[in-house]
Amino acid sequence: MSDADIVPVKPEIAAHALANRARYEEMYLRASSEPEAFWGEECKRLTWMKQPTKIKNTTFFGDVSIKWFEDGTLNAAANCLDRHLAERGDQVAIIWEGDDPNDSKKVTYRELHEQVCRLANVLTAQGVKKGDVVTVYLPMVVEAAVALLACARIGAVHSVVFGGFSPDSLASRVQDCGSVALITADEGRRGGRKVALKVNADEALKTCPSVKSVVVVKITGGDVAMQPGRDVWLHEEAAKVPATHEPVEMNAEDPLFILYTSGSTGKPKGVLHTTGGYMVWASFTHQYVFDYHPGEVYWCTADVGWVTGHTYIVYGPLANGATTLMFEGVPNYPSTSRFWEVIDKHKVNIFYTAPTAIRALMRDGEEPVKKTSRKSLRILGSVGEPINPEAWHWYDRVVGEHRCPIVDTWWQTETGGALITPLPGATALKPGSATLPLPGVKPMLVDGEGHELRGATEGNLCIADSWPGQMRTVYGDHARFVQTYFSTFKGLYFTGDGARRDEDGYYWITGRVDDVINVSGHRMGTAEVESALVAHQAVAEAAVVGFPHDIKGQGIYAYVTLVADVEPTDALRKELITWVRKEIGPIAAPDVIQWAPGLPKTRSGKIMRRILRKIAANETESLGDTSTLADPGVVTDLVENRAG
Ligand code: WTA
Repeated sequence: MSDADIVPVKPEIAAHALANRARYEEMYLRASSEPEAFWGEECKRLTWMKQPTKIKNTTFFGDVSIKWFEDGTLNAAANCLDRHLAERGDQVAIIWEGDDPNDSKKVTYRELHEQVCRLANVLTAQGVKKGDVVTVYLPMVVEAAVALLACARIGAVHSVVFGGFSPDSLASRVQDCGSVALITADEGRRGGRKVALKVNADEALKTCPSVKSVVVVKITGGDVAMQPGRDVWLHEEAAKVPATHEPVEMNAEDPLFILYTSGSTGKPKGVLHTTGGYMVWASFTHQYVFDYHPGEVYWCTADVGWVTGHTYIVYGPLANGATTLMFEGVPNYPSTSRFWEVIDKHKVNIFYTAPTAIRALMRDGEEPVKKTSRKSLRILGSVGEPINPEAWHWYDRVVGEHRCPIVDTWWQTETGGALITPLPGATALKPGSATLPLPGVKPMLVDGEGHELRGATEGNLCIADSWPGQMRTVYGDHARFVQTYFSTFKGLYFTGDGARRDEDGYYWITGRVDDVINVSGHRMGTAEVESALVAHQAVAEAAVVGFPHDIKGQGIYAYVTLVADVEPTDALRKELITWVRKEIGPIAAPDVIQWAPGLPKTRSGKIMRRILRKIAANETESLGDTSTLADPGVVTDLVENRAG
């Protein structure tokens, strides 16, 4: 690593930062040598109803049990709202920027508190009780944040389903956790188009008898059907109930939310986060990673349907009394200057987005960025996938004009918040590296047998001990939790990612080592796309792999074997792509479909994905050993007829 690739800490940032290098090192040391003392202090950043005295009680062995702050009680919504009212009731909590650039509004902490109390009362009136699961299927409107906080306030567990998911995907997520209520909207808006949320929800609910009540947010006023006895309008019900509500006392280990995410096998699993540890981690990481100072305007461009939206649009910023921006639209509507115009319009100081957005905007050149000022910007962030050095440098030079440190935050739905990331005033940057672990995080690289690899090396990325924001279980299936994350390497949390550690101890995430594809920063299980494909009557068998894609990071490449007598045509190819969009959602649509008369399998019938990945990536000279295949001739055909 040459010095040219190191971007030193900016003195003007370090001078005012919450943590400089010395402070980071001191915190890291203390969190690893005395976790009880360190987190016993740090947890005081929250307002507890009963202060915890038992801090850490965790084991990664046997049945795996993770408990933090277990005798403490609190309410997450009260931490995000009530405790701020005295000091900053009139400060803006949420700046909402609509899809239409003429549409924006500001909601103060007092106003947000009132909206949350009203929805909490509405949900209670609908019969929702502490411990019930409420599914949220909303676009990026203020009511999405209100919905999360209202659930938290009454002790209901929210399960947000991304608004881009299909009725089938929504239904299976409702069925898995048996939600009693759904919060949705008439229609969403994105990039000038409408999204038929209520229509999708109605379709999904045909197979979801557990849902007794549907609360509908009026957004576009589009014509939708309301089922009497089940569906109510939020604005009508909210007007009937008081604007105050007493937050429910929750144990630190009571569930806060479920969020479904894709893994290598089977259907998406419900990642369960609990209240105390998650909130401590959300607040701690939001404050330190973004060096958040009171009064700053902070914008994370994620959707609330993903974990990044949960932790870094809603819970982290609001717990810290920040002003958080919520954006309904997309980066290229009405033009590719939109992000930068929004930054100028609302004087954004901290901006957090995904590499895929940066790469897409890079294609349009520098002009759409340069015509804006962006002088309010102080810190830039990246999340969701490895950021390639070209995109990093463009972000740094064109967007940040070399003034703003870039925090490349590595984390997962399972981790609750960032684990490996620079701190703006503490960490010299290396473009493409997520750099160093946060206090309390012990990364470990292991070989295929689970032996620890020391020094500068590359291996499977594991975490050796628990941190407060860690997921606690897979909802309703603790055995799957243990199996998925703790059985590959005994006593370690296995992330599913590979990483390299350099001579300075910096981590470079190399991507997933399992059958998860990262498409534009969204996780997709190959098994999910395969089962959608084989559900089509023309398909006999399908194998799906990721391949390098200029904008998306990874694209979806599907090998499809048709049933006998079906002709492979371009029309059928289009039909299959549309089919997958409809079955799962647009993010799962294959970029490439190659007709495969047969798939490469071992003699025991296992599909050799390694070979399929090589063909998809056009690395056909290095296919490796194909002698163990049942029928090596299959590979020749696939190579000759490579698509895309
Ligand atoms: C990938 C999103 C490299 C990684 C917060 C991880 C990253 C998966 C980064 C989790 C990063 C996320 N650098 N890779 N900065 N951030 N990833 O659950 O493969 O949607 O395992 O959480 O995204 O995706 P998830």
